[in-house]
Amino acid sequence: MSVPAHAADRPHAGLFVTFEGGDGAGKTTQSTLLQEWLERSGRTVVRTREPGGTEVGVLVRDIVLHHRGDIAPRAEALLYAADRAHHIATVVRPALDRGDTVIQDRYLDSSVAYQGAGRVLGRDEVRDLSLWATEGLLPDLTVLLDLDPRVARERLDADDKPFDRLEAEREGFHVRVRTEFLALAEAEPDRFLVLDATRPAADLADAVRARVGGMLPDAP
Ligand code: TYD
Repeated sequence: MSVPAHAADRPHAGLFVTFEGGDGAGKTTQSTLLQEWLERSGRTVVRTREPGGTEVGVLVRDIVLHHRGDIAPRAEALLYAADRAHHIATVVRPALDRGDTVIQDRYLDSSVAYQGAGRVLGRDEVRDLSLWATEGLLPDLTVLLDLDPRVARERLDADDKPFDRLEAEREGFHVRVRTEFLALAEAEPDRFLVLDATRPAADLADAVRARVGGMLPDAP
């Protein structure tokens, strides 16, 4: 499905940008650089993330990332969807209706990649669940920071932080996640900007700015 790039064609006054990619791909760094750039030009930015962008979401995040026992795959998918439903209804939609720019770390493509492909629940089922949860909200732009899971693992090891439930999954899981992200980007080329996450952070930030700049309400 093709998503309109121009402000006048969008269903809301604001701009909804999501960052996706495997763990360790550099989403947080790029989100921060984009936020700083937009704020320097006087724009109002709401920076948020899933899971955990609301008070309820913080509770859900703790379950999905840190619960010690098993969680059935469908329950995991529903927990992410519940976090998302509350987050979109109470934070993201109101911000987009006000005309703000929302920069979000992870959204429904993460569910399709991690639960749909990683947990093998199926692309369409998981996507439909998220679309139901969010009343059909899709990002105006999704930046996919693509990284080989082996390189990602080296970055995470160097970080020296304990792995969460998803990070601790085996390599095959993360390979399925990466492959699915790339397939999603190929299916919706107008919505996605795919970048090689091994490029220097400053180059990546330039590429993101070039794309976002053309989507701002006062762009030609
Ligand atoms: P993230 O916030 O990127 O982790 P970190 O704080 O370590 O950077 O994401 C948390 C994990 O949740 C990540 O491994 C991906 C996973 N996830 C899903 O499996 N499904 C989803 O729908 C989302 C949003 C995240």
